[in-house]
Amino acid sequence: MTVLQNCINKKSNVNCIWLMRQAGRYLPEFREIRSKNQDFIELCLNENLSSEITVQPLRRFNIDAAIIFSDILLLPFALGQPVKFKKDLGPLLGEINFNKMSKVNEMQFIDKLKPVYNAIKKTKDKAELKNKDLIGFVGAPWTILIYMLNQKSPKNDDIELTLKDKKFIEDLLEVIVRYLKIHINNQIESGATIIQIFDSWAGLLNNKDYDKYIYNPTKDLVNFVKSKKTPVICFPKGISDYKNYVSLVKPDVISIDYNVDPKKISESIDIPVQGGLNPNFLIGDKEELKANAKKYLDIFKDKPYIFNLGHGVLPNTDPGMVDYLVKFVKNYS
Ligand code: CP3
Repeated sequence: MTVLQNCINKKSNVNCIWLMRQAGRYLPEFREIRSKNQDFIELCLNENLSSEITVQPLRRFNIDAAIIFSDILLLPFALGQPVKFKKDLGPLLGEINFNKMSKVNEMQFIDKLKPVYNAIKKTKDKAELKNKDLIGFVGAPWTILIYMLNQKSPKNDDIELTLKDKKFIEDLLEVIVRYLKIHINNQIESGATIIQIFDSWAGLLNNKDYDKYIYNPTKDLVNFVKSKKTPVICFPKGISDYKNYVSLVKPDVISIDYNVDPKKISESIDIPVQGGLNPNFLIGDKEELKANAKKYLDIFKDKPYIFNLGHGVLPNTDPGMVDYLVKFVKNYS
């Protein structure tokens, strides 16, 4: 059993921790590689470098899992939609050519993402991963749909406009779900031991549309991961009702964002919980960081809990603060 799985099964009293965006710009060793690799997609598809980046945080911190260095937007990329990352602008996608996209077959798709699967295989064999999980991931269907339609990170008022053409969207959603399953399957076959589904834009949607765009397609993916005997963590950032989400989608672990009241969640949800701490606390002072980390540890003391943040590590974080947090969590009892 890995440290993380022991921890969520309460088979040991060691606290476990990993962090979303634990590999990334706040680490000088990442920035060094990044400065020589301007094309972000190409970097994700460089199996040696992406494997190296994946283990960078494990060399520094006593964290219990690695998450493969990749991006949720490799899915639209592999379906033929152009994806670019412009400095300080975030992702920019090209137009969808649905005809062309419908002609992409499974083999071509897998071929484009082969370096991701090879990076997972390479990473699995590294000494840093001993007794640790390697987390594979995808974007949730809704979040991928929004990026594909909106062609960049959305704002609130973009949504109505984006969702006008219902028939087209239904067809697109079907393609997305089909290929997400293929991508998940290949990550598991290559050695990913847990899958996390990131629904970063769940908070944008109105309740009336949850069934169609969030609950049903995500549940389909969750069932698929479970059928592969692999634990699945869901992170529906900003969703209005986590309890309802858990009862409908039934992930193995629910990852909460920083706006969720941990006390209420701990009292109303009976599956393992992950995350919650606002990543901004890693930018403030140590005492405040400690007090807020302790809040989560106290609340979830007797429950299965994976320490993590309520969203990713911010680029201007001092790695020393991450080290302090990891040590504090590991020594807490
Ligand atoms: O360490 C890890 O968490 C693993 C790697 C990982 C990345 N992206 C690398 C990355 C993971 C799990 C993701 C997921 C991802 N990508 C999400 C879901 C999680 C979330 O943050 O909500 C989303 C929405 C994306 C799409 C994306 N990728 C955006 C919006 C951006 C630009 C804004 C930003 O945060 O930088 C990216 C780029 C990206 N993905 C970077 C990294 C390390 C920064 C790239 C750079 O060096 O410029």
